[in-house]
Amino acid sequence: MIIAIDGTTASGKGTIAKRLAAKYALPHMDTGCLYRATAVAALKQGIALNDAAGLQQIAMNLDLSKFRDSDLRTGEAGKAASQVAVIPEVRQALFELQRSFATQAGGALLDGRDIGTVIAPDADVKLWVDANVEQRGYRRWKELVGFEPDVTLEEVIKQLRIRDERDQSRKDAPAAIASDAVLIDTTDLTIDAAVEKAIAAVEAVLARG
Ligand code: DC
Repeated sequence: MIIAIDGTTASGKGTIAKRLAAKYALPHMDTGCLYRATAVAALKQGIALNDAAGLQQIAMNLDLSKFRDSDLRTGEAGKAASQVAVIPEVRQALFELQRSFATQAGGALLDGRDIGTVIAPDADVKLWVDANVEQRGYRRWKELVGFEPDVTLEEVIKQLRIRDERDQSRKDAPAAIASDAVLIDTTDLTIDAAVEKAIAAVEAVLARG
């Protein structure tokens, strides 16, 4: 079974992905980490975020074990990830890694922006997870404020809007809802309720055979 979970930043897709992967005992790839790591490595090495050839080299030789999760999770890393993600050479360099993970024997669960449309259009279950931008901003602000105390809610919401716009308008593999995806709006849901909905969607697809 391949499960594809796409959606917007801070929609809850990451948590849903982790819980579903555990429940169905599927290996899980958080594909946003690949773009985040590419961006963080570029910033560290002084490679410009629009240098397609330089970024391609980084993406082709990515070793995720060299990165600390806390370095990948910052607001700066997320923003830079969205910038490198518009570059076709970067997406292409990361494609095979994701595709082979998706098609490994025994199945897999991947979360990102283009899993159901580009990486695994053949996925058995596709979810699109979203929530309104104010709610997502509030969630992200609560996470960030612990280690970036100066960050304001308004600024976080503004950055999310910019990020959504960039992810959805890029030419190559834009963040998009697959026509056969099940939509989960988490705006008014607790995370447990959102996970229940996701499980129900998986079970419905499994029941159909
Ligand atoms: O899901 P995230 O916030 O960790 O993703 C960071 C950025 O990476 C996001 O703004 C867009 C990009 N991304 C992508 O283009 N395709 C994916 N499959 C996953 C992430």
